[in-house]
Amino acid sequence: MKIQVPRNMLAVRQHSPDGKPVVETIPVPQPGKGEVLVRMAASPINPSDLALLKGGYLDRNYPFTPGLEGSGMVVGSGGGLMAGMRNGKRVACTPNPEADGTWAEFMVTSAMRTIPLPPSVTLEQGSMMVVNPMTAMAFLHMAKTGKHPAMVNNAAASALGKMLIRLSAAHGIPLINIVRNSTHVEVLKDMGATYVLNSQDRLFESELTTLASELGATLFLDAVAGHHSSQLLSAAPSGSTLVSYARLSGDPMNVDPGQLIVGDKRLTGFQLGNWLQTKGLLFKLTFINRVKKQLSDALSSQISQTFFLEDVENAITQYTGNMSNGKVLLLSNQKD
Ligand SMILES: NC(=O)c1ccc[n+]([C@@H]2O[C@H](COP(=O)([O-])OP(=O)(O)OC[C@H]3O[C@@H](n4cnc5c(N)ncnc54)[C@H](OP(=O)(O)O)[C@@H]3O)[C@@H](O)[C@H]2O)c1
Repeated sequence: MKIQVPRNMLAVRQHSPDGKPVVETIPVPQPGKGEVLVRMAASPINPSDLALLKGGYLDRNYPFTPGLEGSGMVVGSGGGLMAGMRNGKRVACTPNPEADGTWAEFMVTSAMRTIPLPPSVTLEQGSMMVVNPMTAMAFLHMAKTGKHPAMVNNAAASALGKMLIRLSAAHGIPLINIVRNSTHVEVLKDMGATYVLNSQDRLFESELTTLASELGATLFLDAVAGHHSSQLLSAAPSGSTLVSYARLSGDPMNVDPGQLIVGDKRLTGFQLGNWLQTKGLLFKLTFINRVKKQLSDALSSQISQTFFLEDVENAITQYTGNMSNGKVLLLSNQKD
């Protein structure tokens, strides 16, 4: 069935750093060679989207359409074998570097940045297939290949944190989860997490040091930065690696160089795109297939609420006030 593509579409547009995103009518973009036109169905709001809206995270020319992942149906191809093969497929998708994103009724992207979704995966769940599931799997891969006996993760009540809890249990790698309030301690324990520490507790640092030493935790995953990084590094056993993968506190990392020099600890960064670029085609194909197979269980994300694009401001408010309750999705109005 040939799908009629309108000339214009609704899109969320960001006009300046830290400004409010607005919804505008703009022309539907045209795919070039090797690219596809995706009729968007759903996109999550992730912390990286908030960082993008604030400015200074990824390069963008203003105005631009935010949204770093989503799902939809391929309704047009600009030519080329892969783009042609994607036509008519339900896909998870990410935008081209520095290009307009997923918070719109249509998006053009490289066919290479689309992943066909299995019939068992809904478009809503599929819209969250890339950023967190692949990062959780990447962390598991790092733990295994680095022969880390155990891991530590903070901001652990996040969607990503919950995936890591399920993966670590399934693969027998102990995980110390750090959250910042007692409600989240209970939530994570109820879902089966064995080790959950509250960073607000008076004895937090000594408990973390003891537990990390007992379990031999040498992979420390840090999404918070600020003074949390120095707490993690000083609790880490000698020979540990601290991986900085986000900056939720908004603060620069505060690290005592002595921890790196005398304590023989390493500090590194992680960004999913950069990590995937270091892998060959066969690894990527196998990796994506593993992610697909677990999307309905270990790598699923809870959805707390959905909003139409027009309601983006309320959607962001709802998400930022309740990040641990599940993902807020933006839905497009376009239907079959
Ligand atoms: N580098 C990469 O390639 C990559 C890829 C995927 C994800 N990430 C990062 O992974 C993190 C989790 O992503 P997500 O989508 O799973 O998150 P999410 O589900 O939206 O949840 C965000 C979590 O961060 C916690 N949080 C927010 N501000 C915090 C602070 N200042 N200190 C401590 N905790 C704080 C929230 O806890 P409260 O309920 O206590 O607010 C919540 O549990 C994000 O930082 C994201 O940017 C990075």
